[in-house]
Amino acid sequence: MKSQDIRKAYLQFFESKGHTIVPSAPIVLKDDPTLMFNNSGMAQFKEFFLGNGTPKSNRIADTQKCLRVSGKHNDLEDVGFDTYHHTMFEMLGNWSFGDYFKKEAINWSWELLTEVYKLPKERLYVTVFEGDEQEGIPKSVEALACWKKLVPENHIVFGNKKDNFWEMGEQGPCGPCTEIHFDGRSEEDRNKVPGETLVNKDHPEVIEIWNNVFMMFNRLKDGSLQPLPKCHVDTGMGFERLVRIIQNVTSNYDTDVFTPLIAKVEEITGLKYTPNTQYPIPNTQEKTNIAIRVVVDHVRAVAFAIADGQLPSNTGAGYVIRRILRRAIRYGFTFLDTKEPFINKLVEVLANQMGDFFPEIKSQQQLVTNVIREEEASFLRTLEQGIQLLENVMVNTSGKEVSGEKAFELYDTFGFPIDLTALILRERGFSLDEAGFETELQKQKARSRAASEVSTEDWSVLIPGNVETFVGYDQTENDVKITRIRKVDSKKDGILYQIVLDNTPFYPEGGGQVGDKGILVSANETIDIIDTKKENNLILHFAKQLPENVNATFTAKVNTDLRASTSKNHSATHLMHLALRTILGTHVEQKGSLVNPNYLRFDFSHFSKVSDEELRQVEASVNTQIEAQLQLIEHRNIPIKEALDKGAMALFGEKYGDSVRMIEFGDSKELCGGIHVKNSAEIWHFKIISEGAVAAGIRRIEAITGDAVKAFYTNQENTLSEIKEVLKNPQDVLKSVASLQDDNAKLKKQIEQLVKEKIDGLATSLVSEFQDVNGINFLVKQVDLSMSATKDLTQAIGTSKPNSFVVLASIEEGLPNIHCYIAKELVANKGLNAGTVIRELGKYIDGNGGGQPFFASGKGKDVTGITAVLENAVNFLK
Ligand code: ALA
Repeated sequence: MKSQDIRKAYLQFFESKGHTIVPSAPIVLKDDPTLMFNNSGMAQFKEFFLGNGTPKSNRIADTQKCLRVSGKHNDLEDVGFDTYHHTMFEMLGNWSFGDYFKKEAINWSWELLTEVYKLPKERLYVTVFEGDEQEGIPKSVEALACWKKLVPENHIVFGNKKDNFWEMGEQGPCGPCTEIHFDGRSEEDRNKVPGETLVNKDHPEVIEIWNNVFMMFNRLKDGSLQPLPKCHVDTGMGFERLVRIIQNVTSNYDTDVFTPLIAKVEEITGLKYTPNTQYPIPNTQEKTNIAIRVVVDHVRAVAFAIADGQLPSNTGAGYVIRRILRRAIRYGFTFLDTKEPFINKLVEVLANQMGDFFPEIKSQQQLVTNVIREEEASFLRTLEQGIQLLENVMVNTSGKEVSGEKAFELYDTFGFPIDLTALILRERGFSLDEAGFETELQKQKARSRAASEVSTEDWSVLIPGNVETFVGYDQTENDVKITRIRKVDSKKDGILYQIVLDNTPFYPEGGGQVGDKGILVSANETIDIIDTKKENNLILHFAKQLPENVNATFTAKVNTDLRASTSKNHSATHLMHLALRTILGTHVEQKGSLVNPNYLRFDFSHFSKVSDEELRQVEASVNTQIEAQLQLIEHRNIPIKEALDKGAMALFGEKYGDSVRMIEFGDSKELCGGIHVKNSAEIWHFKIISEGAVAAGIRRIEAITGDAVKAFYTNQENTLSEIKEVLKNPQDVLKSVASLQDDNAKLKKQIEQLVKEKIDGLATSLVSEFQDVNGINFLVKQVDLSMSATKDLTQAIGTSKPNSFVVLASIEEGLPNIHCYIAKELVANKGLNAGTVIRELGKYIDGNGGGQPFFASGKGKDVTGITAVLENAVNFLK
């Protein structure tokens, strides 16, 4: 079976068992602050297990794009070294939400594996939870009884809490699980060592393929387990591993999920990937194999993340993506000898291979390719610079050991990989203080851990079973009751309380729009709500303190001034999106958006700078739409298909339900959950304030509306008045500024001429001051010139005599600078080096610098050291 058919068969099988098939959620999570990426199929259903909200069906199945590269489940460093871990992988899953339980789940998994996929039964082993006294959970007798009917007893292995009790994180839904393992060893090996002894022992050929979790508890902050209101099934089967077994190969990388990508790498690099027959092969070929696995694995993670809207960046999820890509670039650079961007060329292969099932990778192919290419080019530059810096480190290291601090500096400030540092040092006969590096790394980790420490208490539930409703499209004020409260203590924000209400007019941050602020008022007290966010299905209202009487009835009041400004910016964003697509072309798609009361920021795909003329057209188009007084048409709840048929824009990386909200202003039609003006005229006016690049092929526009535009114009007017005043109120300001610039240019030219004459004069007069020291023409002097003129003068004097050694110093803006010229014959014959001279003399002025052997310059901070510079220069000749 081809991988495509294997995926299809899974979904069809569970459809035949009454499951609703849903698409994969985006790989990047938006509504869950506890998780950066989807790391398992169940992440998007977490709240249903806890009883917050109801799924559209109580039987669901899908294949979920997962990324295990951060947090509790992190496989990044293993990837490449073995043949069955991945950064991105697909997790096939079936779920029961309070519906069927152990018996059905186990029987169906057996039926699918042995009857549909026809896996040989004698190679399958299962694990069952042995129970845990401390947790007070008994052995899974029901699961055991089910399995006993299907497999011989020696194929059942009991597992402890580590292997057979699955938890999504430190807190949250969890339960005992039963796993299915496959023994892929040769017959000979199987006869020698029984499979059951290798289950869960990290054997590369006896691997887990499917985990069936029986969700029964919620792990609380204090570590205790609270029974869930209902029992659920959560399963996850590693798609790539399943394909490997069905296609009867010994490595995931030998399946058709990876072979097309590997073939492309071979074509680009001219190297060969040798399928893993022995494990491990400790030679250069094995390094090539590892590097190729790293590249073909990582490109999938990075490409899908970008397609789902997560660009590489310097913080958060974007930084994780950047690090994955850099790991691939660095493996290519060192082990595949790729010095030019090449990973981007794999995107086409990936799109052809996966595009049918995951259309996002096809439709975003160009953008993904460009972004990866640009990242590659930039990191390859970093690697080159890093190698240069490492050269300097080696030159300046006395002895043969490079300190951990130096290596850490390269790693931390330049992103230079430590293993590459170690490799280069080894090749050059240096060693690295690895323990020192580790200490620095741990210090930094401790710093950032401390900075991001968050302690989340369990919910205290005041009104159980309530499903919060959002009433904020129609109201900004409403009577409410508090249903639950949670305390969160973080280094970043201090102590905050998250409050959930029975219903709320507060808009939670989402779709780029910031969360509402406002107050909760009861008969006796007022509580400030400083932000509103969504976590899965809950709307969390953030407050610095709790009301004394949490059971009172409150009026929830949204700050309507802030909300009005925000809604203008949000509606203007839609109008601008349409304008951009009309003026620049329909390749423009939203790639990021921020809407707050002050301004709007919009990132979109477009491959060149937006010209001033185009920006003017966009502005004019939006303002025309504003003046046309377009009435808001809101379809609050229409089937997604109908909305798309009407021409609504949907975004990749967003999760849409079966029914959606659609916002129309004239020809602008978008799927959107945000808050908008009732009529475009309310926006008053739209003004772009900046345009620039965020990444390859992604531009960013920032703009303002309403009162902010008024303030902007008032500001401009004031500045103009001030300029006029400074210029003594000329008739024509423009002309007056132009003539000032003209005068300035003329004066600059004159000064340059004068300085040149001064240098020439000094050069002639200084020739007589050369001294003969051991046959070398030596001159050292402080002059009264700018740094750049001193530099020119040093070279002019140096070249005026043979065998010259010149050191000049000067002071510019209170800071000392020094320059050294050494005639080429002295460099060649006497081993003198101007770079070394400047570095050594630089110490006297608390400075640094460098250059070439025959000419170097430096700058310092301490002018009092100049005398010492002048006195000590001669030492180099003695
Ligand atoms: N949630 C379970 C896992 O990820 C199925 O292994």
